[in-house]
Amino acid sequence: MSTTTAPARVAKLSAVSIRDRKGKDKLSALTAYDVVFARLADASGVDIVLVGDSLGMMVQGHANTLPVTLNDVVYHTRAVARGVQRAHLVADLPFMSYQASIEDGVRAAGRLLQEGGAEAVKLEGGVEVADLVHKLTSFGIPVMGHVGMTPQSVHQFGGFRVQGRQEESHKRIVEGALAVAQAGAYSVVVESVPEALGAELSQTLAIPTIGIGAGAACDGQILVMHDVLGLDPHWKPRFARAYAQLGLAAQDAFAAFVRDVKSGTFPGPEETFS
Ligand code: KIV
Repeated sequence: MSTTTAPARVAKLSAVSIRDRKGKDKLSALTAYDVVFARLADASGVDIVLVGDSLGMMVQGHANTLPVTLNDVVYHTRAVARGVQRAHLVADLPFMSYQASIEDGVRAAGRLLQEGGAEAVKLEGGVEVADLVHKLTSFGIPVMGHVGMTPQSVHQFGGFRVQGRQEESHKRIVEGALAVAQAGAYSVVVESVPEALGAELSQTLAIPTIGIGAGAACDGQILVMHDVLGLDPHWKPRFARAYAQLGLAAQDAFAAFVRDVKSGTFPGPEETFS
């Protein structure tokens, strides 16, 4: 009998297993945009990796997410998919890839799964996207909703401002989240709303709420990778927590390299071929 053992297969998290965690244990989610950080996030035990259109701000240097194209998200999702073994992989439908028609949305979502390797798509909105959510899920494409401060509407909101403080916007967000859930979404991101509204949505909806700036009562929490790692020493949103200061550490490492090159101590004998 052979004594070698096959490498342990990792149990992959799916839209179904994520939905079923509601009321059991809290979900954790992180964004990633490339294979190296996708591998690190996956190895950390995070439940969901999102290729967010936040890549427009974090990777491309734009002021908001609006310039991100479907091709951009497909490209980054492909890279991230190569690094993720266990986590559930979600990709964002970027601005104008789904707003003009249901057909656009179905084709765009199809590309994220077929070419990118995503296992679900995320889209922003409430009542106005419910028909699309229904169509996508009826074709077997799992959908994560996104309500509250939806960044693709930044101009409508007059900036990245907390939403749901006024009665009318509170009502719109609750109705929107219910519509998306009833249309078949398996989870919903709730962004930048008062904690009472995050709690209300978490109690009302049968699917998990994944909060970002929506308080501790949500069924899970998502953060942008750059914020968790402290990659930008000059930027920390109120709702984020930096668990490291890798931006400054990277700058120090680059400066040490520059010093060693100038002083002639790099490369040394151990970095040189004979
Ligand atoms: O684009 C993104 O990264 C997101 C998360 C912040 C939820 O939508």
